Amino acid sequence: MKSVQERAYGKLNLTLDVLGKRDDGYHDMCMIMQTVSLSDLVTVTLTEEDGWVCSCDHEAIPQGGKNLAWKAAEAFFEAYGKRPEHLLIDIQKQIPVQGGMAGGSADAAAVLRALNVLHGTPYTAEELADIGSAVGSDVPYCVIGGTALAEGRGEIISKLPPLPDCYFVLVKPEFSVSTPALFKKLDESADGAHPDTQCAIAALQKKNLHGLCRCMTNVFQPVLSKDFPVIDEICARLVDLGAERACLTGTGSVVFGVFTQRDIAEDAVLNLSKDYTVFLAENV
Ligand code: C5P
Repeated sequence: MKSVQERAYGKLNLTLDVLGKRDDGYHDMCMIMQTVSLSDLVTVTLTEEDGWVCSCDHEAIPQGGKNLAWKAAEAFFEAYGKRPEHLLIDIQKQIPVQGGMAGGSADAAAVLRALNVLHGTPYTAEELADIGSAVGSDVPYCVIGGTALAEGRGEIISKLPPLPDCYFVLVKPEFSVSTPALFKKLDESADGAHPDTQCAIAALQKKNLHGLCRCMTNVFQPVLSKDFPVIDEICARLVDLGAERACLTGTGSVVFGVFTQRDIAEDAVLNLSKDYTVFLAENV
């Protein structure tokens, strides 16, 4: 029995732009992504019995073949050319489910990394990311992690200079959103404050956190806030509590505030915890 554990880090969108709809039904994206310390723990074990089992301590996560982690294992062994009879994937969840933090994709990426280690590292990170692209648009980024630009469907990844150290207060309102439904709403909407991605990249190159914060925008936010004004309310509250900037991540529903000082971020966590599920995280 051989076992490998991997941390599956959640992601935030420091910027998120949708450039247009494609013929294949997907949208062309341009997003600055950042992994954060809030993470799931994924354990992959090559066993001698029980077939394939995928278990998770969160009731909303599918346990079998519908789980992205399972699909990632299928994709790995298809590329590798040899599929084991027995495999155990265990996921301990911390990343909020349906939060726009790519929790499922992070787990899938962790499975790819773990299987790569278990098989003597046959693939580079770029090759693993390529294997992951069929599993989900965010999986290639989750394989690579750090600060990066994601383009195309989300699967074309370019490394960016690392985000200067800061603290994130992550707030999860109760509701969750269907990603395809929100893309459709965006297509039909005239709203859309687009981020200035080039300005954000220039700020990263200068290690200028304030400058970067000024460029943080998510094109989904005005569309989602129409139905869920709580998104903008939480952003305003985070700024009142000392955040440099607050923004929606992905298609939501998690909202994050960027803080430069830990004690101020901790006070914000205490304040917002009265009303919401809240986490403190750092960039990784
Ligand atoms: O690739 P993934 O399975 O994560 O995408 C989920 C859904 O999100 C797609 O079926 C599509 O409706 C939408 N999507 C999109 N454009 C992207 C990524 C996702 O329209 N670039």
